[in-house]
Amino acid sequence: MKGRSSIVLFSFIVLLWLGTCVLFVSCKDAKEPLVPSVFQYEFEEPAHFPTPVYDFANNAITKEGFEVGRMLFYDPVLSRDSTVSCSSCHQQFVAFAHSGHAKSHGIDNQVTLRNSPGLFNLAWQEDFFWDGGVAHIELVPLAPIANPLEMDESMARVVYKLNRSNRYKGLFQKAFGTDSADSQQILYALTQFNGLMISDHSIYDKYRTGKEKLSAEELEGLSLFTEYCSSCHSGELFTDLSFRNNGLNTSFTNDTGREHITTLSSDIGKFKVPSLRNVELTAPYMHDGRFTTLENVLDHYASEVKNSSTLDPLLNQGNGDYGIALTDNEKQKIILFLQTLTDHSFITDPRFSNPF
Ligand code: HEC
Ligand code: HEC
Repeated sequence: MKGRSSIVLFSFIVLLWLGTCVLFVSCKDAKEPLVPSVFQYEFEEPAHFPTPVYDFANNAITKEGFEVGRMLFYDPVLSRDSTVSCSSCHQQFVAFAHSGHAKSHGIDNQVTLRNSPGLFNLAWQEDFFWDGGVAHIELVPLAPIANPLEMDESMARVVYKLNRSNRYKGLFQKAFGTDSADSQQILYALTQFNGLMISDHSIYDKYRTGKEKLSAEELEGLSLFTEYCSSCHSGELFTDLSFRNNGLNTSFTNDTGREHITTLSSDIGKFKVPSLRNVELTAPYMHDGRFTTLENVLDHYASEVKNSSTLDPLLNQGNGDYGIALTDNEKQKIILFLQTLTDHSFITDPRFSNPF
């Protein structure tokens, strides 16, 4: 009798468990939240993206490591006089570009040489900066910290200040298991934060994964984009990550771009093809922030492309005309399509917000 009642009880528990599982799975399928309701500190590769470049195997993401990275990103202590943080020039509401600034303002209100790009999908990038001056995501923070126009601080002093700070007391210990912070851990923590900034929730992504439809005009914009733009702004990242000259100038004496790194004259005037995800938010445009609107950018491609020895062949029509012949109506449709690349859940994701 006793045996039987425990079997009954056991079956009841099993049924209850199965029921909960079924309920859980069907609830999950029924409604996908815009932003994951439970914070996830995992690197989740979007199924429609290519293979990432950075491998988190050597820098396993933990909640603690990510949160230290987030604090560092928002903390002006990384600059010489504690006035400038990464977030001064990379603001979440504009996909981590610098809103309204052609060139960013760094320490002592000095102006940087180039426009701040938006920050997202960095784990898929091999080269960083407009000229590819840094070739590893972990090393990126060293540049703005040391740059006399940006944060003007040495890594050694950052380490010293963090180890002295009450704000970080015990946090590096929890994240990395050692008593004091060192420069490697600072770079790992910032990489955990920067590397997890994935933007894959735009209307376009939902269209791509069959969850949403694009309007007829957006679809026309997409096919024009595929025809005229996607040889450079290609694939799901909307960049082939190469360096090219898209005809902004006839000579590039102010900023030679990729040549600055390679010293090859064939690289003069070439800059990294930027992703166009979130492009509606990241104005102004180009490495020097010369264009304030997407209309300006389309006008450039349609009628202002300038010839030079390194101009990309795709922008040379071969008959003495340069650029991409586009009507006003076609430009507008391309812009409508570009606006489907805005990821509202990314710019409001609380994981990436200011923790202070
Ligand atoms: C004073 C403004 C400023 C500050 C502060 C700043 N950045 Fe930047 N950031 C820029 C500019 C400008 C560029 C483009 C530089 C270039 O191409 O030469 C850039 C580029 C980058 C890139 C490369 C993006 C890409 O797609 O190539 C990353 C990543 C980045 N910054 C992260 C950071 C981090 C992390 C910090 C803090 C440690 C930081 N930045 C601080 C202005 C700033
Ligand atoms: C030959 C390659 C190439 C083609 C084709 C091309 N682009 Fe670009 N695009 C670039 C490069 C390179 C840059 C960065 C140039 C710079 O800043 O010096 C750029 C920059 C941009 C920017 C500025 C993004 C930012 O964050 O500053 C936009 C917007 C843009 N392109 C849209 C388009 C559109 C729309 C088309 C099609 C009509 C197009 N591009 C065709 C190579 C190309």
